[in-house]
Amino acid sequence: MDQIVNVNEFQELARQALPKMYYDFYSGGAEDQHTLKENMEAFSRIMFRPRVLVDVTKIDMSTRILGYPLSAPIMIAPTGSHGLAHPEGETATAKAAAACNTIMIVSSMSSCTLEEVASSCNAVRFFQLYVFERRDVSAQVVRRAERAGYKAIVLTVDVPKLGRREADIKNKMIAPKLRNFEGLFSTKVKPSDGSGVEALASRALDASLNWKDIEWLRSITKLPILIKGILTREDALKAVEAGVDGIIVSNHGGRQLDYSPATITVLEEVVHVVKGRIPVLLDGGVRRGTDVFKALALGAKAVLIGRPVVYGLAAKGGDGVMKVIEMLKNEFELTLALSGCATIGDITRNHVKTEDERL
Ligand code: FNR
Repeated sequence: MDQIVNVNEFQELARQALPKMYYDFYSGGAEDQHTLKENMEAFSRIMFRPRVLVDVTKIDMSTRILGYPLSAPIMIAPTGSHGLAHPEGETATAKAAAACNTIMIVSSMSSCTLEEVASSCNAVRFFQLYVFERRDVSAQVVRRAERAGYKAIVLTVDVPKLGRREADIKNKMIAPKLRNFEGLFSTKVKPSDGSGVEALASRALDASLNWKDIEWLRSITKLPILIKGILTREDALKAVEAGVDGIIVSNHGGRQLDYSPATITVLEEVVHVVKGRIPVLLDGGVRRGTDVFKALALGAKAVLIGRPVVYGLAAKGGDGVMKVIEMLKNEFELTLALSGCATIGDITRNHVKTEDERL
């Protein structure tokens, strides 16, 4: 483990540890995978305007999201089927989240049930919701999440239909078990149908989901609601008007609409219209502490980490997840020091320069 010096190195270790079908499922994006690559490349086009001669002997990275304390503004994004990466599945990830004092967003599509994850550790957990055509099933799952002590519902809105992930089609990726829904409705799909994930999604997801349904979700839960999958100022405003408690700027890690913009390039337009009324978070392509800093400088309250967490889990189990989060935290701490910021409150828009500003 000591030989691993950055988060990117876990990708190759995961590739070696996993059957090709599973590695491709975790790592892949939609169609030409342009957005997948662009998420990362867009970060590399932002440069720093570091300040000097600031006392940075003590750095405080801590923050709060919806009132819950985090050791750093780095959370765990919802990703499905951790059981394909490691036998302990999401329970290993959740224990690592607790050890790192961060928040884990548990996917609807988890391999362990949401109750198993809850009883495995005392990490603060949010529950990610995909709304199904069977609304009664979705409502039941939300109520179970509430009972199991989840602190917020993260409604993912960028999957009315599953994006075209060509590696999964080629590999005839199996439909993973959806343990949260066992006994609630049949999630069986024909094994020969190309991507089993796609077959499963088209059987279950409600493509009619629309803004009015936020009211429905409000009516069935008292938990705060975050909307995940916003990429424009228009939708950010609608989200605020709908009364949600937070926005996650996300293109689903480039797995849905290819040629969606890199999330870091649209963060500011969202932040601009939200005007601080609710927290704006971001995910997609965050691989370095410098990326975390850039997202905060452009107005995010925190970032979420998707693939690196799964790679860490596949390569080294819960210890791998911890190492991923700790490496990002250490890099972020160093970035704060080298930019002349002692706390995350000291980060300003002037600490970074986007590509347009450099022309
Ligand atoms: C995801 N993502 C996702 N999002 C969601 O809301 N529910 C889910 O079940 C999943 N499942 C999932 C599986 C896998 C294998 C990946 C890679 C991603 C999207 C995820 O929450 C997040 O938006 C991206 O992963 C962030 O980009 P990075 O960090 O992977 O670049």
